[in-house]
Amino acid sequence: MRIELSNAFERLGNVLIYGTQKVYALDAGPEGPNHPNDKYFVVRKVANEQSWNVEQEMVIVVPIKNEKLKLLEGVITGIPHNCLIIVVSNSDRDDVDRFNMEKNVVENICHFSKRDFLIVHQKDPEIAELFESMGYADILGEDGLIRDGKSEGMLIGILLTQLLQKKYIGFIDSDNYFPGSIYEYVRIYSSIFSLSKSDYTMGRILWHSKPKAINSNILFSKWGRVSRLTNYYLNRLISLYTGFETDIIKTANAGEHCISMNLAMNMDFGAGFTVEPYNYINLFEKFGGVDKLTNQSDNGNKVVHIHQVESRNPHLHESKGNEHVNDMIDNSLGSIFHSLICPLELKKELIKELKKAKIILQNEMPVKRAVYKALGLFDLNKAKQKFDPDKFGHMLTTV
Ligand code: GDP
Ligand code: CO
Repeated sequence: MRIELSNAFERLGNVLIYGTQKVYALDAGPEGPNHPNDKYFVVRKVANEQSWNVEQEMVIVVPIKNEKLKLLEGVITGIPHNCLIIVVSNSDRDDVDRFNMEKNVVENICHFSKRDFLIVHQKDPEIAELFESMGYADILGEDGLIRDGKSEGMLIGILLTQLLQKKYIGFIDSDNYFPGSIYEYVRIYSSIFSLSKSDYTMGRILWHSKPKAINSNILFSKWGRVSRLTNYYLNRLISLYTGFETDIIKTANAGEHCISMNLAMNMDFGAGFTVEPYNYINLFEKFGGVDKLTNQSDNGNKVVHIHQVESRNPHLHESKGNEHVNDMIDNSLGSIFHSLICPLELKKELIKELKKAKIILQNEMPVKRAVYKALGLFDLNKAKQKFDPDKFGHMLTTV
Protein backbone atom coordinates (compact mmCIF):
# COMPACT_ATOMS: atom_id res chain seq x y z
CA MET A 1 0.00 0.00 0.00
CA ARG A 2 1.10 3.57 -0.55
CA ILE A 3 -0.19 5.92 2.07
CA GLU A 4 0.16 9.62 2.70
CA LEU A 5 1.92 10.90 5.81
CA SER A 6 0.06 13.57 7.71
CA ASN A 7 1.81 16.81 8.44
CA ALA A 8 -1.02 18.31 10.46
CA PHE A 9 -1.97 17.18 13.90
CA GLU A 10 -3.80 18.36 16.96
CA ARG A 11 -2.42 17.62 20.39
CA LEU A 12 -4.22 17.30 23.70
CA GLY A 13 -1.64 16.41 26.34
CA ASN A 14 -0.16 13.11 25.23
CA VAL A 15 -2.81 12.39 22.60
CA LEU A 16 -1.76 13.19 19.04
CA ILE A 17 -4.53 13.19 16.47
CA TYR A 18 -3.28 13.30 12.92
CA GLY A 19 -5.20 14.87 10.05
CA THR A 20 -6.79 12.58 7.48
CA GLN A 21 -4.36 10.54 5.41
CA LYS A 22 -5.12 9.27 1.90
CA VAL A 23 -4.36 5.97 0.25
CA TYR A 24 -2.36 6.37 -2.98
CA ALA A 25 -2.10 2.72 -4.01
CA LEU A 26 -3.79 -0.37 -2.69
CA ASP A 27 -0.74 -2.45 -3.65
CA ALA A 28 2.75 -0.95 -3.54
CA GLY A 29 4.54 -4.05 -4.77
CA PRO A 30 7.30 -6.02 -3.06
CA GLU A 31 10.24 -4.80 -1.03
CA GLY A 32 13.00 -3.41 -3.16
CA PRO A 33 15.44 -0.56 -3.52
CA ASN A 34 13.61 2.64 -2.64
CA HIS A 35 13.28 5.50 -5.01
CA PRO A 36 16.10 7.92 -4.10
CA ASN A 37 13.57 10.51 -2.91
CA ASP A 38 11.56 8.12 -0.80
CA LYS A 39 12.89 9.30 2.56
CA TYR A 40 11.64 12.83 1.98
CA PHE A 41 8.50 11.85 0.16
CA VAL A 42 5.12 12.54 1.78
CA VAL A 43 3.65 9.34 0.36
CA ARG A 44 5.16 6.29 2.01
CA LYS A 45 5.45 2.81 0.61
CA VAL A 46 4.49 -0.16 2.73
CA ALA A 47 5.78 -3.15 0.80
CA ASN A 48 3.61 -6.25 0.68
CA GLU A 49 6.11 -8.12 2.85
CA GLN A 50 5.83 -5.44 5.53
CA SER A 51 2.03 -5.72 5.51
CA TRP A 52 2.24 -9.50 5.73
CA ASN A 53 4.62 -9.30 8.70
CA VAL A 54 2.29 -7.02 10.66
CA GLU A 55 -0.77 -9.09 9.72
CA GLN A 56 0.97 -12.16 11.09
CA GLU A 57 0.72 -10.52 14.52
CA MET A 58 -2.79 -9.10 14.07
CA VAL A 59 -6.22 -10.37 15.02
CA ILE A 60 -9.28 -9.18 13.13
CA VAL A 61 -12.37 -9.23 15.33
CA VAL A 62 -15.71 -9.45 13.54
CA PRO A 63 -18.69 -8.68 15.82
CA ILE A 64 -21.97 -10.05 14.52
CA LYS A 65 -25.59 -10.04 15.59
CA ASN A 66 -28.16 -11.59 13.27
CA GLU A 67 -26.63 -10.33 10.02
CA LYS A 68 -27.18 -11.95 6.64
CA LEU A 69 -24.91 -14.97 6.23
CA LYS A 70 -23.94 -13.88 2.72
CA LEU A 71 -22.51 -10.69 4.20
CA LEU A 72 -20.51 -12.56 6.83
CA GLU A 73 -19.16 -14.84 4.11
CA GLY A 74 -18.02 -11.84 2.06
CA VAL A 75 -16.40 -10.20 5.08
CA ILE A 76 -14.36 -13.29 5.93
CA THR A 77 -13.29 -13.62 2.30
CA GLY A 78 -11.93 -10.04 2.31
CA ILE A 79 -9.61 -10.40 5.32
CA PRO A 80 -5.94 -10.79 4.27
CA HIS A 81 -4.58 -14.28 4.81
CA ASN A 82 -2.07 -13.81 7.63
CA CYS A 83 -4.54 -12.26 10.09
CA LEU A 84 -6.16 -14.45 12.69
CA ILE A 85 -9.94 -14.08 12.47
CA ILE A 86 -12.05 -13.99 15.64
CA VAL A 87 -15.81 -13.86 15.06
CA VAL A 88 -17.76 -12.83 18.18
CA SER A 89 -21.43 -13.53 17.73
CA ASN A 90 -24.44 -12.48 19.74
CA SER A 91 -26.91 -13.94 17.26
CA ASP A 92 -30.12 -15.72 18.21
CA ARG A 93 -29.92 -19.39 19.06
CA ASP A 94 -33.54 -20.04 20.03
CA ASP A 95 -35.87 -20.97 17.16
CA VAL A 96 -33.21 -21.13 14.50
CA ASP A 97 -29.65 -21.48 15.72
CA ARG A 98 -28.12 -18.65 13.71
CA PHE A 99 -24.80 -19.06 15.51
CA ASN A 100 -24.54 -22.60 14.21
CA MET A 101 -25.16 -21.36 10.69
CA GLU A 102 -22.48 -18.68 11.12
CA LYS A 103 -20.09 -21.32 12.38
CA ASN A 104 -20.71 -23.42 9.27
CA VAL A 105 -20.05 -20.46 7.00
CA VAL A 106 -16.82 -19.47 8.76
CA GLU A 107 -15.57 -23.07 8.99
CA ASN A 108 -16.31 -23.65 5.34
CA ILE A 109 -14.55 -20.54 4.02
CA CYS A 110 -11.59 -21.00 6.37
CA HIS A 111 -11.28 -24.68 5.47
CA PHE A 112 -11.02 -23.95 1.76
CA SER A 113 -8.78 -20.92 2.23
CA LYS A 114 -6.60 -22.72 4.82
CA ARG A 115 -7.01 -20.10 7.50
CA ASP A 116 -6.90 -19.87 11.27
CA PHE A 117 -10.01 -18.66 13.02
CA LEU A 118 -11.93 -18.66 16.26
CA ILE A 119 -15.68 -18.20 16.52
CA VAL A 120 -17.29 -17.69 19.92
CA HIS A 121 -20.78 -16.92 21.12
CA GLN A 122 -21.13 -13.95 23.44
CA LYS A 123 -23.39 -16.00 25.73
CA ASP A 124 -21.07 -19.01 25.97
CA PRO A 125 -20.65 -19.72 29.73
CA GLU A 126 -16.98 -20.55 29.13
CA ILE A 127 -16.37 -17.02 27.87
CA ALA A 128 -18.11 -15.58 30.94
CA GLU A 129 -15.86 -17.78 33.08
CA LEU A 130 -12.73 -16.30 31.55
CA PHE A 131 -13.82 -12.83 32.66
CA GLU A 132 -15.06 -14.06 36.03
CA SER A 133 -11.79 -15.88 36.75
CA MET A 134 -9.85 -12.63 36.48
CA GLY A 135 -12.32 -10.70 38.64
CA TYR A 136 -13.86 -8.76 35.76
CA ALA A 137 -17.49 -8.79 36.94
CA ASP A 138 -18.84 -5.57 35.40
CA ILE A 139 -19.33 -7.16 32.01
CA LEU A 140 -21.48 -9.97 33.42
CA GLY A 141 -25.25 -9.66 33.52
CA GLU A 142 -27.57 -11.03 36.21
CA ASP A 143 -27.56 -14.40 34.45
CA GLY A 144 -23.79 -14.58 34.89
CA LEU A 145 -23.22 -14.33 31.13
CA ILE A 146 -21.64 -11.52 29.11
CA ARG A 147 -24.05 -8.61 28.62
CA ASP A 148 -25.54 -7.78 25.23
CA GLY A 149 -23.89 -5.16 23.08
CA LYS A 150 -21.32 -4.56 20.42
CA SER A 151 -18.73 -3.18 22.83
CA GLU A 152 -19.13 -6.22 25.07
CA GLY A 153 -18.45 -8.46 22.04
CA MET A 154 -15.40 -6.39 21.18
CA LEU A 155 -14.05 -6.77 24.72
CA ILE A 156 -14.26 -10.53 24.33
CA GLY A 157 -12.20 -10.10 21.16
CA ILE A 158 -9.60 -7.98 22.97
CA LEU A 159 -9.25 -10.49 25.81
CA LEU A 160 -8.82 -13.44 23.44
CA THR A 161 -6.29 -11.47 21.37
CA GLN A 162 -4.28 -10.79 24.52
CA LEU A 163 -4.46 -14.42 25.62
CA LEU A 164 -3.21 -15.45 22.18
CA GLN A 165 -0.34 -12.97 22.63
CA LYS A 166 -0.95 -11.08 19.41
CA LYS A 167 0.39 -7.55 19.05
CA TYR A 168 -2.37 -5.80 17.13
CA ILE A 169 -6.15 -5.88 16.94
CA GLY A 170 -8.49 -4.57 14.25
CA PHE A 171 -12.30 -4.49 14.14
CA ILE A 172 -14.44 -5.05 11.06
CA ASP A 173 -18.26 -4.86 11.09
CA SER A 174 -19.98 -7.93 9.70
CA ASP A 175 -22.78 -6.14 7.80
CA ASN A 176 -20.56 -4.93 4.95
CA TYR A 177 -21.55 -5.60 1.32
CA PHE A 178 -18.10 -5.17 -0.28
CA PRO A 179 -15.40 -7.76 0.50
CA GLY A 180 -12.93 -5.58 -1.41
CA SER A 181 -13.44 -2.78 1.10
CA ILE A 182 -12.63 -5.16 3.97
CA TYR A 183 -9.35 -6.05 2.28
CA GLU A 184 -8.52 -2.36 2.00
CA TYR A 185 -9.43 -1.58 5.62
CA VAL A 186 -7.18 -4.33 6.97
CA ARG A 187 -4.32 -3.26 4.66
CA ILE A 188 -4.75 0.25 6.04
CA TYR A 189 -4.47 -1.15 9.59
CA SER A 190 -1.26 -3.00 8.83
CA SER A 191 0.18 0.02 7.00
CA ILE A 192 -0.55 2.26 10.00
CA PHE A 193 1.21 -0.13 12.38
CA SER A 194 4.07 -0.58 9.94
CA LEU A 195 4.64 3.18 9.70
CA SER A 196 3.86 4.15 13.29
CA LYS A 197 6.71 4.93 15.64
CA SER A 198 4.64 4.51 18.82
CA ASP A 199 3.56 1.25 20.41
CA TYR A 200 0.47 3.15 21.62
CA THR A 201 -1.21 3.50 18.24
CA MET A 202 -4.80 3.64 17.09
CA GLY A 203 -5.99 3.74 13.47
CA ARG A 204 -9.47 4.73 12.35
CA ILE A 205 -11.02 4.47 8.91
CA LEU A 206 -12.78 7.40 7.33
CA TRP A 207 -15.04 5.91 4.70
CA HIS A 208 -14.59 7.34 1.27
CA SER A 209 -18.38 7.52 0.92
CA LYS A 210 -21.58 5.70 1.72
CA PRO A 211 -23.60 4.99 -1.43
CA LYS A 212 -27.34 5.58 -1.08
CA ALA A 213 -30.12 5.19 -3.62
CA ILE A 214 -32.08 8.43 -3.94
CA ASN A 215 -34.81 8.67 -6.61
CA SER A 216 -33.23 5.78 -8.53
CA ASN A 217 -29.85 7.53 -8.61
CA ILE A 218 -26.84 6.64 -6.51
CA LEU A 219 -25.60 9.35 -4.23
CA PHE A 220 -22.14 8.89 -2.72
CA SER A 221 -22.78 10.71 0.53
CA LYS A 222 -19.92 11.42 2.90
CA TRP A 223 -21.42 12.18 6.30
CA GLY A 224 -24.27 10.52 8.14
CA ARG A 225 -26.27 12.28 10.83
CA VAL A 226 -24.53 10.43 13.66
CA SER A 227 -20.94 11.08 12.60
CA ARG A 228 -21.63 14.71 11.68
CA LEU A 229 -22.85 15.45 15.22
CA THR A 230 -20.34 13.31 17.11
CA ASN A 231 -17.37 14.67 15.17
CA TYR A 232 -18.58 18.22 15.76
CA TYR A 233 -18.92 17.83 19.53
CA LEU A 234 -15.66 15.93 20.01
CA ASN A 235 -13.92 18.73 18.13
CA ARG A 236 -15.76 21.25 20.33
CA LEU A 237 -14.40 19.44 23.38
CA ILE A 238 -10.83 19.78 22.10
CA SER A 239 -11.28 23.43 21.22
CA LEU A 240 -12.68 24.26 24.67
CA TYR A 241 -9.41 22.98 26.16
CA THR A 242 -6.99 24.39 23.60
CA GLY A 243 -8.79 27.65 22.86
CA PHE A 244 -8.50 26.99 19.11
CA GLU A 245 -11.35 25.74 16.95
CA THR A 246 -10.59 22.51 15.13
CA ASP A 247 -12.15 20.01 12.77
CA ILE A 248 -9.38 17.41 13.12
CA ILE A 249 -11.65 14.55 14.23
CA LYS A 250 -13.46 12.95 11.33
CA THR A 251 -13.80 9.39 12.62
CA ALA A 252 -15.80 9.68 15.86
CA ASN A 253 -18.03 6.71 15.02
CA ALA A 254 -15.55 4.61 13.06
CA GLY A 255 -16.60 0.98 13.55
CA GLU A 256 -13.55 0.09 11.50
CA HIS A 257 -10.58 0.80 13.73
CA CYS A 258 -7.43 -0.85 14.99
CA ILE A 259 -5.40 -0.58 18.20
CA SER A 260 -1.97 -1.80 19.25
CA MET A 261 -2.58 -4.26 22.07
CA ASN A 262 -0.33 -2.31 24.47
CA LEU A 263 -2.79 0.53 24.16
CA ALA A 264 -5.98 -1.57 24.03
CA MET A 265 -5.11 -3.19 27.37
CA ASN A 266 -4.86 0.26 28.93
CA MET A 267 -8.13 1.68 27.62
CA ASP A 268 -11.56 1.70 29.21
CA PHE A 269 -14.41 0.93 26.82
CA GLY A 270 -17.89 2.43 26.71
CA ALA A 271 -20.80 -0.03 26.67
CA GLY A 272 -22.89 -0.80 23.58
CA PHE A 273 -22.77 1.78 20.83
CA THR A 274 -20.83 4.35 22.88
CA VAL A 275 -17.74 2.29 22.16
CA GLU A 276 -16.31 4.19 19.19
CA PRO A 277 -16.73 7.83 20.31
CA TYR A 278 -15.75 6.86 23.85
CA ASN A 279 -12.35 5.73 22.50
CA TYR A 280 -11.50 9.39 21.98
CA ILE A 281 -13.00 10.49 25.30
CA ASN A 282 -11.13 7.85 27.27
CA LEU A 283 -7.83 8.63 25.59
CA PHE A 284 -8.34 12.30 26.48
CA GLU A 285 -9.24 11.30 30.04
CA LYS A 286 -6.23 9.05 30.49
CA PHE A 287 -3.55 10.65 28.37
CA GLY A 288 -4.86 14.16 27.66
CA GLY A 289 -3.64 15.60 30.96
CA VAL A 290 -6.73 17.82 31.16
CA ASP A 291 -7.99 16.61 34.49
CA LYS A 292 -5.99 14.97 37.24
CA LEU A 293 -9.15 13.31 38.52
CA THR A 294 -9.41 11.11 35.48
CA ASN A 295 -5.76 10.21 35.08
CA GLN A 296 -6.51 6.83 36.57
CA SER A 297 -3.46 4.84 35.66
CA ASP A 298 0.22 5.50 35.49
CA ASN A 299 0.66 6.16 31.82
CA GLY A 300 3.99 7.87 32.27
CA ASN A 301 5.01 9.76 29.21
CA LYS A 302 3.41 7.43 26.70
CA VAL A 303 2.24 9.34 23.66
CA VAL A 304 -0.82 8.00 21.87
CA HIS A 305 -0.87 8.40 18.10
CA ILE A 306 -4.27 8.38 16.40
CA HIS A 307 -4.21 8.01 12.63
CA GLN A 308 -7.29 8.62 10.49
CA VAL A 309 -7.07 7.15 7.01
CA GLU A 310 -9.56 7.67 4.20
CA SER A 311 -10.36 4.50 2.30
CA ARG A 312 -10.72 4.39 -1.47
CA ASN A 313 -13.61 1.92 -1.40
CA PRO A 314 -17.09 3.16 -0.63
CA HIS A 315 -18.78 1.66 2.42
CA LEU A 316 -22.08 -0.10 1.96
CA HIS A 317 -23.62 -1.69 5.03
CA GLU A 318 -27.08 -2.66 6.22
CA SER A 319 -29.44 0.24 6.79
CA LYS A 320 -30.92 -0.14 10.27
CA GLY A 321 -33.51 2.62 10.37
CA ASN A 322 -34.13 5.94 12.04
CA GLU A 323 -34.60 4.63 15.56
CA HIS A 324 -31.15 3.01 15.44
CA VAL A 325 -29.68 6.32 14.24
CA ASN A 326 -31.32 8.26 17.09
CA ASP A 327 -30.12 5.67 19.57
CA MET A 328 -26.56 6.02 18.22
CA ILE A 329 -26.72 9.82 18.56
CA ASP A 330 -28.01 9.57 22.14
CA ASN A 331 -25.26 7.05 23.01
CA SER A 332 -22.51 9.01 21.25
CA LEU A 333 -23.35 12.45 22.64
CA GLY A 334 -24.19 10.88 26.01
CA SER A 335 -20.67 9.46 26.24
CA ILE A 336 -19.25 12.97 25.83
CA PHE A 337 -21.80 14.50 28.24
CA HIS A 338 -21.12 12.08 31.08
CA SER A 339 -17.33 12.30 30.95
CA LEU A 340 -15.68 14.05 33.89
CA ILE A 341 -13.75 16.16 31.40
CA CYS A 342 -16.86 17.56 29.68
CA PRO A 343 -17.09 21.30 30.49
CA LEU A 344 -20.43 22.71 31.64
CA GLU A 345 -20.65 24.86 28.54
CA LEU A 346 -20.47 21.81 26.32
CA LYS A 347 -23.01 19.92 28.44
CA LYS A 348 -25.51 22.70 27.80
CA GLU A 349 -24.87 22.56 24.06
CA LEU A 350 -25.30 18.77 24.00
CA ILE A 351 -28.63 18.93 25.83
CA LYS A 352 -29.85 21.61 23.43
CA GLU A 353 -28.83 19.52 20.42
CA LEU A 354 -30.53 16.36 21.71
CA LYS A 355 -33.72 18.26 22.49
CA LYS A 356 -33.73 19.91 19.08
CA ALA A 357 -33.45 16.48 17.45
CA LYS A 358 -36.29 15.28 19.73
CA ILE A 359 -34.06 12.50 21.06
CA ILE A 360 -34.54 13.56 24.66
CA LEU A 361 -37.53 15.33 26.22
CA GLN A 362 -37.63 18.54 28.27
CA ASN A 363 -36.41 17.17 31.60
CA GLU A 364 -34.37 14.25 30.34
CA MET A 365 -30.61 13.73 30.39
CA PRO A 366 -28.57 12.03 27.65
CA VAL A 367 -28.31 8.29 28.17
CA LYS A 368 -25.56 7.22 30.57
CA ARG A 369 -23.94 3.93 29.61
CA ALA A 370 -21.56 1.82 31.65
CA VAL A 371 -17.80 2.12 31.20
CA TYR A 372 -15.75 -1.07 31.34
CA LYS A 373 -12.35 -0.79 33.00
CA ALA A 374 -9.12 -1.51 31.15
CA LEU A 375 -8.43 -5.25 30.92
CA GLY A 376 -4.79 -4.65 31.80
CA LEU A 377 -5.80 -3.89 35.41
CA PHE A 378 -6.94 -7.48 35.97
CA ASP A 379 -5.24 -10.80 36.61
CA LEU A 380 -4.87 -12.17 33.11
CA ASN A 381 -2.96 -15.24 34.26
CA LYS A 382 -6.15 -16.61 35.79
CA ALA A 383 -7.93 -16.36 32.43
CA LYS A 384 -4.92 -17.80 30.66
CA GLN A 385 -5.06 -20.94 32.76
CA LYS A 386 -8.66 -21.48 31.73
CA PHE A 387 -8.34 -20.61 28.05
CA ASP A 388 -8.24 -23.40 25.50
CA PRO A 389 -8.39 -21.92 21.97
CA ASP A 390 -8.97 -25.32 20.37
CA LYS A 391 -12.46 -25.32 21.85
CA PHE A 392 -13.49 -22.36 19.73
CA GLY A 393 -12.05 -23.02 16.31
CA HIS A 394 -9.04 -24.01 14.32
CA MET A 395 -5.55 -22.83 15.09
CA LEU A 396 -3.82 -24.40 12.16
CA THR A 397 -1.06 -21.78 12.06
CA THR A 398 -0.71 -22.34 8.35
CA VAL A 399 0.66 -19.44 6.37
P1 GDP B 1 -23.71 0.71 12.66
O1 GDP B 1 -23.09 0.13 11.44
O2 GDP B 1 -22.74 1.47 13.49
O3 GDP B 1 -24.97 1.44 12.40
O4 GDP B 1 -24.14 -0.49 13.64
P2 GDP B 1 -24.53 -1.99 13.30
O5 GDP B 1 -25.90 -2.24 13.84
O6 GDP B 1 -24.27 -2.32 11.87
O7 GDP B 1 -23.52 -2.79 14.24
C1 GDP B 1 -22.14 -2.85 13.98
C2 GDP B 1 -21.68 -4.29 14.05
O8 GDP B 1 -21.83 -4.81 15.36
C3 GDP B 1 -22.47 -5.23 13.13
O9 GDP B 1 -21.56 -6.11 12.54
C4 GDP B 1 -23.41 -5.95 14.10
O10 GDP B 1 -23.79 -7.22 13.63
C5 GDP B 1 -22.57 -6.04 15.34
N1 GDP B 1 -23.33 -6.10 16.62
C6 GDP B 1 -24.40 -5.35 16.99
N2 GDP B 1 -24.81 -5.69 18.23
C7 GDP B 1 -23.96 -6.67 18.67
C8 GDP B 1 -23.85 -7.44 19.89
O11 GDP B 1 -24.63 -7.31 20.83
N3 GDP B 1 -22.82 -8.34 19.95
C9 GDP B 1 -21.95 -8.55 18.92
N4 GDP B 1 -20.99 -9.48 19.08
N5 GDP B 1 -22.04 -7.85 17.77
C10 GDP B 1 -23.02 -6.91 17.64
CO1 CO C 1 -23.55 -1.35 10.15
